[in-house]
Amino acid sequence: MGYREVYKSWQADPEAFWIEQSQAIDWDRAPTRALFDQGPVGEWFADGMVNTCWNAVDRHVKAGRGNQPAIIHDSPITDSQQTITYGELQERVAGLAGALAAHGIGLGDRVIVYMPMIPEALVAMLACARIGAVHSVVFGGFAAHELAVRINDAQPKAIIAASCGLEPGRVVEYKPLLDRAIDEATHQPDFTVIFQRPEHQAAMISGRDLDWHDVQQGTEPADCVPVPGNHPAYVLHTSGTTGQPKGVIRATGGHLVALQWSMKNIYGIDPGDVFWAASDVGWVVGHSYICYAPLIAGATTIVFEGKPVGTPDAGTFWRVIQDHGVKSFFTAPTAIRAVKREDPHGEFIGKYDLSCLKALFLAGERADPDTIQWAEDHLKVPVIDHWWQTETGWAIAANPFGIELLPVKKGSPTLPMPGYDVQILDEAGHPVPAGTLGAIAVKLPLPPGTLPTLWNAEDRFRKSYLDHFPGYYETGDAGYVDEDGYLYIMARTDDVINVAGHRLSTGAMEEVLSGHPAVAECAVIGAADSLKGQAPLGFLCLKKGVEMSDEQVVKEVVARVRNEIGPVAAFKTAVVVDRLPKTRSGKILRATMTKIADGEEFKTPATIDDPVILDEIAEALLTVGYPARS
Ligand code: COA
Ligand code: AMP
Repeated sequence: MGYREVYKSWQADPEAFWIEQSQAIDWDRAPTRALFDQGPVGEWFADGMVNTCWNAVDRHVKAGRGNQPAIIHDSPITDSQQTITYGELQERVAGLAGALAAHGIGLGDRVIVYMPMIPEALVAMLACARIGAVHSVVFGGFAAHELAVRINDAQPKAIIAASCGLEPGRVVEYKPLLDRAIDEATHQPDFTVIFQRPEHQAAMISGRDLDWHDVQQGTEPADCVPVPGNHPAYVLHTSGTTGQPKGVIRATGGHLVALQWSMKNIYGIDPGDVFWAASDVGWVVGHSYICYAPLIAGATTIVFEGKPVGTPDAGTFWRVIQDHGVKSFFTAPTAIRAVKREDPHGEFIGKYDLSCLKALFLAGERADPDTIQWAEDHLKVPVIDHWWQTETGWAIAANPFGIELLPVKKGSPTLPMPGYDVQILDEAGHPVPAGTLGAIAVKLPLPPGTLPTLWNAEDRFRKSYLDHFPGYYETGDAGYVDEDGYLYIMARTDDVINVAGHRLSTGAMEEVLSGHPAVAECAVIGAADSLKGQAPLGFLCLKKGVEMSDEQVVKEVVARVRNEIGPVAAFKTAVVVDRLPKTRSGKILRATMTKIADGEEFKTPATIDDPVILDEIAEALLTVGYPARS
């Protein structure tokens, strides 16, 4: 069957389609139905009983794949490589799961995981899944405050962390960040489990911090605990419009079924193949395509601790692909832009044998046609843009390489995947004709694997995603479809920006800037950046009588964002202005400011309070190099 037949077969009978896909999963009790009419948007496979870890690990050992590599850790930063077979992974996961259970962690308890790109991060996630605990992974580039916010929201019984992460030229000590976060949080975990890395020994707090190895002494390995299909597999916080992130819930049954389907049909991966997503376990790409999907599919996954450039050079990606025989490679366009900038003629590519590589997949931000073209020219494999979000957990739109490669149109992530009825809507919620820009929405119900609601925040779930367009899920992206139905994703409709494939909230940054005693008012926008896609840019209005110099205030707010949100926010530039442009009703005109920063043409909004302010903004931006930077 080609893509169109597959999509049509889903449209004709979604229930039968998903029940059929669910048969690729090992259930302790098979679901009697696919979609259950319960919860705010329905729930998938709710009466089935299943275990994620069984499907990702044990069933492959049982099927004779015990000696096949499950995880390859490749760390150019430490110049080390390690292979873990499915058999070894089962032992490690069961061991940690047993220790967690012996310390009181059980079904539904939350466990925060704060780990860098080491196999133990996956072991921790799978150990939670094994005993029905709900993990909440926090990205290592987030600062103590962001971790504290997530501790308060997830209310974990335990936190599993490593002693440090490694950035090029810098050891990031996690333990002081963790200690500060626990001090700041109102919720207190019962205990922590610390994995000591050779690069840094963390100081332990007696009675609270337990060593990863010690904690497993004398406890029994745990078996897989079957959980209901709608049991939360994990919570993953993602940026919304405010400083309070949204806790996206992933339900167990739908997650297993959707990821299993995607590995073969989108990424073209069979059991035994090697798949590599160069992202981080702290993001959704890392959850779905570093940890779960490749393992559920019985493939080998690569855990890469390094950067596209500088560890040690722009040939790292190609070296990893050659050394480990990677068949499908997934990264963010920004990573390819970083490589292209250092190696414009692809000379490093020529040094490696990439005959194993069959396709490159890009997601996380818009894939610009130049980057796609460069990768196609030099890698000589299909370069596939696909579009999705933390909320969906897998691709909304893609070129289904494993079914058939559809004609590639650069700038488009191609067509919707089965399960997604994507519509472009006008403000009133009516579908618009091809070629017309509108809000991108998905007709309910969403497919398996997508979020059933937000953690502890059903009202926010409804307000953020359902209320604006009744009967639809609002993606927060704007775009259009062409006459062939190909989707084009153009912009966010909210205050979320995308910096080097990392989703960040300008609202959260504004909250940090407002906290500075000299700042009366502020705004943060995402300005175009040729490497990172977007870069945050701050505007500050100072309080009357402030004696500090503008430069000093800017320096201090830059440091504040780094300390409170984290280095990953990449907040480096701010300007002091007298006034912010606003509408007569007081709304800051961020979109117009963004156009000025990007050097794009714009119409002065009819509702603007005082148009002269736009000239002041343009002048201030010139002092920090905008718009030339984009
Ligand atoms: N722990 C601690 N700090 C981290 C971190 C982590 N896990 N990840 C990033 N940081 C820090 C970096 O060290 C950097 O700090 P600095 O300001 O001191 O230099 C800062 O956060 C910004 O990091 P990053 O976004 O990685 O930018 P960069 O300038 O170091 O590198 C790229 C630029 C394009 C090479 C890099 O962003 C990249 O590899 N992007 C791919 C993104 C990706 O895979 N996204 C996932 C979505 S699919
Ligand atoms: P995240 O939840 O971090 O995965 O970020 C999701 C957001 O990133 C989407 O809503 C889009 O705004 C953007 N995004 C992800 N993939 C793409 C893509 N292929 N093209 C355009 N934008 C994308």
